[in-house]
Amino acid sequence: MSRSLLSMFNRPHPPTSSPLGEGEIIVACWQSPSNIAFVKYWGKKEGQLPLNPSIGMTLNQSYTITSVEAEFTKGTGGRIISVNGEVQHPFLTKLEKLVKWLVQEIPVLGNLSFRVETSNSFPHSTGIASSASGISAFTLCLLSIAEKANGEEIPLMDFMKTASFVSRMGSGSACRSVFGGYTLWGKTPVVRGSSDLFAIPVTELVHPSLRTLHDTILVVSSTPKSLPSSQGHTLMEIHPFGPARIRQARNTVIELMEALTQGDLNRLAELTEFEALTLHALIMSSPGGMILMEPQTVQIIKQIHAARQKGLAAFFTLDAGPNVHLMYPEPAAPEVENFIRKELMPLCENGVIIYDQCGTGPVRTKMEKH
Ligand code: PMV
Repeated sequence: MSRSLLSMFNRPHPPTSSPLGEGEIIVACWQSPSNIAFVKYWGKKEGQLPLNPSIGMTLNQSYTITSVEAEFTKGTGGRIISVNGEVQHPFLTKLEKLVKWLVQEIPVLGNLSFRVETSNSFPHSTGIASSASGISAFTLCLLSIAEKANGEEIPLMDFMKTASFVSRMGSGSACRSVFGGYTLWGKTPVVRGSSDLFAIPVTELVHPSLRTLHDTILVVSSTPKSLPSSQGHTLMEIHPFGPARIRQARNTVIELMEALTQGDLNRLAELTEFEALTLHALIMSSPGGMILMEPQTVQIIKQIHAARQKGLAAFFTLDAGPNVHLMYPEPAAPEVENFIRKELMPLCENGVIIYDQCGTGPVRTKMEKH
């Protein structure tokens, strides 16, 4: 299935032919959002496959804009010349690794070298996954370049499925960012077409009342996180609670899909918070036992619980860091945002809060060959 998706990008040129004439260049630019998980991807196996399925919501205001310029340079094997004009940019190695893998699948890219310009709409280390938006934006650019080089348009759904498949190789959560709304990555018996190889959009299964859900990020600390997710995934390979976690997450996906379909906000709140705390419990009980929450994280969670008891329609989730994502449906926005300003903002670092919401997915902003 995935092989045949990738092979679409290899027509009609034989693998060794040049995609471009001497001096020609292709430029592709994509804006791609980050996403936040309700059920977390935590732990992987060989081939970047998840230990458990995950469900995410694509954001709207938090995105990466990436522009990739491809130049014909025979036999470079897909070298990245620079990122943001720097030949030793910290992202360069990670992006080049992804290109090298992709060249094996789409050989036409192997005769190109790339200049990358990339920037985020959101500040660094604020609890918004820049790897999800960054890797998906870069992948979309590479696939647009391959498509253009081949001169044959690929149907949108196939293009996006392939983008999800390829993004997964760079960062697991990035595979959920290529579709708008709600996405599911990983096989589950309750959703037909679900796969460990790529994410699929599931918004059509979600109750309309939840399709405009807000996600406001309460920035408790912008100090870079002490546990990179790659290290976290590795810890799960030997985690004493690993098998139980996998079983539980599989069940939570089934229950959470049901809550989303029924528009059951209370159930969604319970399951999402339970997942967030489970992620942190797994981190705390990993060898080396890390605490990623700050005292303000706990204070904010307690305030949210107290407000919910009094009827406020809001719940939280956490990524692998101290910052809190506060989620609430559209009609509750005025009341919740008042609560944020009065009660939660004083607990945030320099009062930093990022307002975001369920978004519509990536947008191609440029595609040129000259
Ligand atoms: O995509 P990665 O390898 O950065 O892992 C993401 C892990 C979490 O953000 C903690 C959970 C998730 O599903 O997004």
